[in-house]
Amino acid sequence: MSPHLLLLSLVFPLISCEVAFRINEKLSTDPEFYEQWRDLVAIQDRQMTDHPEDLYQFSTVLDQLRTCPLIRTLSDGVHNLRVNDVAIYADIGHLSTFCRHNLTRLNNGDLDSCGHHSSSSELPTLDKMIKVFNPNLTVMNVHRNHDESFVNQVKEITARIKAIPDHEEKWKMIFMLPNIQDGEASETGQAAIEVLQAIEYLNDNLPRKTFIVVLKSSGKGMWRDASHAHSACLTLLDRWKKYVDHNSESVWEQVNTIVEKNFQHQLFTVEILPLLNEGALAQFPNGSDLSSLGYDCAHWSERGLSLLHVAIWTAMLSSQSMRTREYRPVHSMPKCPEPRCPFIRTSSNSAVCLWSKIEDDPFPLAPQIIAVAILAVCALLCFILVLFLCLRKDKSTLKKEKAFGSNFSSIKFIDDDV
Ligand SMILES: *[C@@H]1O[C@H](CO)[C@@H](O)[C@H](O)[C@H]1NC(C)=O
Ligand SMILES: *[C@@H]1O[C@H](CO)[C@@H](O)[C@H](O)[C@H]1NC(C)=O
Ligand SMILES: *[C@@H]1O[C@H](CO)[C@@H](O)[C@H](O)[C@H]1NC(C)=O
Repeated sequence: MSPHLLLLSLVFPLISCEVAFRINEKLSTDPEFYEQWRDLVAIQDRQMTDHPEDLYQFSTVLDQLRTCPLIRTLSDGVHNLRVNDVAIYADIGHLSTFCRHNLTRLNNGDLDSCGHHSSSSELPTLDKMIKVFNPNLTVMNVHRNHDESFVNQVKEITARIKAIPDHEEKWKMIFMLPNIQDGEASETGQAAIEVLQAIEYLNDNLPRKTFIVVLKSSGKGMWRDASHAHSACLTLLDRWKKYVDHNSESVWEQVNTIVEKNFQHQLFTVEILPLLNEGALAQFPNGSDLSSLGYDCAHWSERGLSLLHVAIWTAMLSSQSMRTREYRPVHSMPKCPEPRCPFIRTSSNSAVCLWSKIEDDPFPLAPQIIAVAILAVCALLCFILVLFLCLRKDKSTLKKEKAFGSNFSSIKFIDDDV
């Protein structure tokens, strides 16, 4: 062992998270990979500062949503669900967490866990966007290890939701955001099957007022791009190759069919978003933009997570045919609920959107209008009375004054003439 490597293995502390641990192991045993990886995190660091638009764009997302017109309507089922009606939020899957990027710490071998929950991000994420519409939103994050199966994560969420009073009467929105490393590299353990099992569990245990959004991760575009973009990513993503092989489009198609047949009712539904079908990294003129990825190339960076969440928001409020399948981690402004159909879009309301707007209720205003009317009539009567009295008074004084006035003006005229 060279002194260089010996030093490394001393410096790198033990980290509980599996991903960080394996990278650490590789870093301390493979000097070539160590050099590649240091190059990767240095490029990511440079590219993160290569987005001067970030500051403005990220800070305007929530402001933009605050300008959305509020449309009043009755929320009577999954097809008429507005963002405002969502009361409980949860997200699971490796794309719901992010890696922090601090070059100093990474270079010191202090690898981040990549398990930071979206709600802890300082950039806009789905929970913050929904909060613009419902400040009372309850946000749940899974305390368990993110490597646990989706069913286990969903079980934890379900138990905590059930502890909320009146949870059956509150709309619950659950996002399932798997990446290539969710599930297992096997027929029965692949991400699509895990997602299906989790949906089934929720259907059995939270059948009332639950809306599930799934980000389909069959496409490997994003990660194939990353593998091509940097040799360190190629090595890092290599261990997920088997997962990708199992995560085929055809299995997701079957999941989709099963969901349509069994898990779409009036008070429970699942929407599967195709954003990543042909997803890819954004491009700089000289190569791929790796700043949206974490240092492990599989998770997002804080920046990448926020960009994705804004895109999920817009996809959710767009009819099925308008949803993009070619996601790129670049800035986009979040869409307001469409005035024509201000709901989270489902297959049903994408085809026909039936609803009635509640016009502003005139009755709460009525007492004020009547009061104003009475006041106006009183004022008018007073005015007439005063006018009447004044006129009468004027008539009696007018005669004298007229005589005096005419005398005065005639005197004046005489003066002028003279
Ligand atoms: C990165 O980590 C170091 C050491 O913990 C800390 O001093 C520094 O402020 C951090 N940098 C940023 C930008 O957070
Ligand atoms: C939020 O909750 C508080 C108390 O729980 C309630 O008084 C308030 O009206 C709620 N606000 C909205 C916008 O629902
Ligand atoms: C591409 O150029 C930008 C400067 O425009 C630089 O910050 C970035 O690191 C370069 N990317 C690569 C992969 O060299």
